Amino acid sequence: MSAEIDSGPANFASRLLAWFDVHGRHDLPWQHPRTAYRVWIAEIMLQQTQVATVIPYYLHFLNSFPSLQSLASASQDEVLGHWSGLGYYSRARNLHAAAQRCVSERAGELPDTLELLQALPGIGRSTAAAILAQACGQRHAILDGNVKRVLCRIFGIEGWPGSPSVEKTLWPLATALLPSKRLADYTQAIMDFGASQCRRSKPDCISCPFAAECVAHQTHRVAELPQSRPKKVLPQRECTMLVLQSEDGRVLLERRPPVGVWASLWSLPQFETHALAYEYAHSRGIATDDIQQRTAIDHVFSHYRLQITPLHARCAELPLRVADDNHQRWLSRPEVEKLGMPAPVRRIINPSLHEEPTPP
Ligand code: ADE
Repeated sequence: MSAEIDSGPANFASRLLAWFDVHGRHDLPWQHPRTAYRVWIAEIMLQQTQVATVIPYYLHFLNSFPSLQSLASASQDEVLGHWSGLGYYSRARNLHAAAQRCVSERAGELPDTLELLQALPGIGRSTAAAILAQACGQRHAILDGNVKRVLCRIFGIEGWPGSPSVEKTLWPLATALLPSKRLADYTQAIMDFGASQCRRSKPDCISCPFAAECVAHQTHRVAELPQSRPKKVLPQRECTMLVLQSEDGRVLLERRPPVGVWASLWSLPQFETHALAYEYAHSRGIATDDIQQRTAIDHVFSHYRLQITPLHARCAELPLRVADDNHQRWLSRPEVEKLGMPAPVRRIINPSLHEEPTPP
């Protein structure tokens, strides 16, 4: 440990590793074997999703794309389809683009330096560090949400840990705490510690090996640290979606443009107003009386809220217009299940689905 840490627990890393040996996770699928490709896929899936949810998707993904080359040569639809149910599809688009770059520029190998790895789409500093520490034993600190929580509590760091100024404090601290050996285990250990012992709500301070030195515990501020993101009021937008269903239960879907919100995902025909949706339906021979409005649903994006009002209609399976042919399809329920599709759209098509589809 470097001299910069003048407070906090002594021998933090060795005590954390001792905790890990007893309480940590040692049988995660990406740990056996712990190759850079396998760890990379896991770390991307784990960016916004918990371990228990990720595991079945991870196994299915690795089964279909066992190597970086096989991922690079898959179609984007295939890759997005494997992400169906995980959400945050830009992760899958970036994975695919990064794999293709590695094939065209690096003979199919992932880079093995922090700088080059971070230059790939979808890989930030912490993810690059997590890959190199776990797959290659390199000495880099990670700083994901779990790690931030652990450090903010134990060291009593104020402020929202997502802000640049708090991160400026956390990175050198996380680096100074690193051990000189067992970097792969240490990286897993600090994530596991944050996910279980030092979890967000009701952490297990009673059995925590750092309780005696933890600033948050000692000052009764465990529930307050780390501080939350300052609230911002998001603008509200509205749209209408048409759910056209054929007699045999097929639904008319269209592919979103390759850039912008929900890029390249399959969605319902979407309109800025009811009037435009009705106009579209009328132009396809559907009468106003056959259109039924259902309860609106809300979706929150990082920069705005969207209220979606669904209009449902049963109709004959209309032939697709020539201009629509490339991006519209009548699809059956099982086909819909396998597509990359925004979660609120899936809920509109299948209102009994409150959650994502069943994992693979
Ligand atoms: N979150 C991100 N990476 C993880 C990992 N390797 N294990 C558990 N949780 C994680």
